[in-house]
Amino acid sequence: MKRPIIIVPDPILRTIATPIEHITPAIQTLAQDMIETMYDAPGIGLAANQVNIAQRIVVMDVHYRDDQATRNPIVMINPHLTWTSEELSEWDEGCLSIPQQYAVVTRPKSVRVAYQDLNGQTQERLVEDLESHCVQHEIDHLNGVLFIDYLSRLKRDMILRKVEKQQREQAVL
Ligand code: NI
Repeated sequence: MKRPIIIVPDPILRTIATPIEHITPAIQTLAQDMIETMYDAPGIGLAANQVNIAQRIVVMDVHYRDDQATRNPIVMINPHLTWTSEELSEWDEGCLSIPQQYAVVTRPKSVRVAYQDLNGQTQERLVEDLESHCVQHEIDHLNGVLFIDYLSRLKRDMILRKVEKQQREQAVL
């Protein structure tokens, strides 16, 4: 079932999510709901904070190109970085919780991420470029951090004001 996506400045987006100890049916359902919500948005990644749940789970599918056949979602429970490259890369990032706003963010070009899958098995992946930015962006969400935090205060405030205005206008319609 699709869940509503939380928009800034909701405090859940600034909440540090708690580790998941047991993969219960509720967690399985949450993962399925997050996948459905991500594809519907559409987006390439989603963290649980964005659907109002402060637990450490993210879903991702960076290769998805608006075509059912290409869907290959990854569920990451308790994801954390075990290595980051010194080499950096820039990417124009956006966020479903900060609609229609984009900005270039600099992050490590490659990272290694460890997590548990829905079967509780530990997995590790080496990712780079877009996928690296996405993994880091989603783990940031679990720590209450947003991509606008990497920008100047001026730029950040401008984006927040734009979103607020846009949300107000949508509410009127
Ligand atoms: Ni985001």
